[in-house]
Amino acid sequence: MTTKSAFCMVVFFLQLCIVNGQGICERQMITEWRTEPKPTIIKWTPRENVCSDFYTECWNMNKSILGEISEERNLSIPQICPLQLQLGDSLFISSEPSFQSYGMNLVNVSKEEFINCPRAGFLQEQLIFVCQIKGLHQVDPNWLGVGTHYFAELHKRGPLLCNMGLRLNVTVKQQFCQQSLGAPLCSGHGKCLSHIWEKTYNCHCFSQYSGTFCQKFDICSAKPCHNNASCTEKSELSGDSYECTCPPKFSGKNCTEIVGQCQPSTCFNGNCINVTPNTFLCECDKGFTGRKHLFLLSSSLSV
Ligand SMILES: *[C@@H]1O[C@H](CO)[C@@H](O)[C@H](O)[C@H]1NC(C)=O
Ligand SMILES: *[C@@H]1O[C@H](CO)[C@@H](O)[C@H](O)[C@H]1NC(C)=O
Ligand SMILES: *[C@@H]1O[C@H](CO)[C@@H](O)[C@H](O)[C@H]1NC(C)=O
Ligand SMILES: *[C@@H]1O[C@H](CO)[C@@H](O)[C@H](O)[C@H]1NC(C)=O
Ligand SMILES: *[C@@H]1O[C@H](CO)[C@@H](O)[C@H](O)[C@H]1NC(C)=O
Ligand SMILES: *[C@@H]1O[C@H](CO)[C@@H](O)[C@H](O)[C@H]1NC(C)=O
Repeated sequence: MTTKSAFCMVVFFLQLCIVNGQGICERQMITEWRTEPKPTIIKWTPRENVCSDFYTECWNMNKSILGEISEERNLSIPQICPLQLQLGDSLFISSEPSFQSYGMNLVNVSKEEFINCPRAGFLQEQLIFVCQIKGLHQVDPNWLGVGTHYFAELHKRGPLLCNMGLRLNVTVKQQFCQQSLGAPLCSGHGKCLSHIWEKTYNCHCFSQYSGTFCQKFDICSAKPCHNNASCTEKSELSGDSYECTCPPKFSGKNCTEIVGQCQPSTCFNGNCINVTPNTFLCECDKGFTGRKHLFLLSSSLSV
């Protein structure tokens, strides 16, 4: 049997196998940046891990909640489950056992060629591997720079295998979550995340933190100003200073002092303490708080 006829038989056999063999790709909509790179192995076979419908099979999304993404809405081509990698991850290709005696190769193609499958006339330098491969091979990291890459099966006899789904969409993402090299991700005050349609990983800060790297503590969100005073962050530099603008009758750094002097029974359930010649505080009894009977810890009032 010639190599050619054997190859045709393999293809014929595979075509029988994939009649209804389309699968749904597993994926999370939002992923968190891993601190360690990870290897991924893609099995290059049309028999499993092949999807056709862009949204429901390849990206496992609920069509009814899609509205904002319109571009690829009608893109339904059989392909190996699209892949998203972190910059630095390694990618291995393992070939279908029945291809192994014939060998296979992948070619880096444009989006249009990915959609239509490459025809003759590709450039030698776009071949992912230097020769036909059998078994497990690593893709040179030079092919896996930041961005979206399209690889397609290439065979002397035309685009048959590519048409059956042997083409891969790989998106490599980098993170912008570190203020400087070696700094903790999101300054330790947030998570470094990427939604499936985003091109990069970015910080999502815990409450009270803000900034590209969650490096800013939002002092006003801790509500240091009392009695309905308004809070303004004072200096970008220190990041932890604020100013309270007190409503009339209130005073002090945190607007906790009342303008005036202690009078008998000014404070309903607590002790009255003069702070300055014209402001006073109510030190509330246990279990009482309030606007006019103000709260301060007794410890701060000793002396
Ligand atoms: C898709 O979304 C709709 C509306 O949000 C919901 O009713 C339906 O159950 C979802 N289907 C799947 C398969 O998640
Ligand atoms: C989707 O369909 C529209 C019109 O039907 C067409 O203009 C567009 O090129 C198609 N997109 C793709 C990616 O095939
Ligand atoms: C892969 O192909 C695309 C589209 O033709 C091209 O823009 C890109 O430069 C190629 N990648 C490499 C590493 O040659
Ligand atoms: C390839 O995957 C990216 C997401 O990683 C997606 O935005 C793009 O539309 C896909 N391209 C094709 C042609 O399916
Ligand atoms: C103002 O509030 C801050 C934090 O809530 C506290 O640390 C500080 O001691 C208060 N200052 C005064 C003068 O009450
Ligand atoms: C706080 O101020 C807002 C407007 O600045 C006002 O509507 C509200 O009544 C005030 N609340 C109290 C408890 O004084």
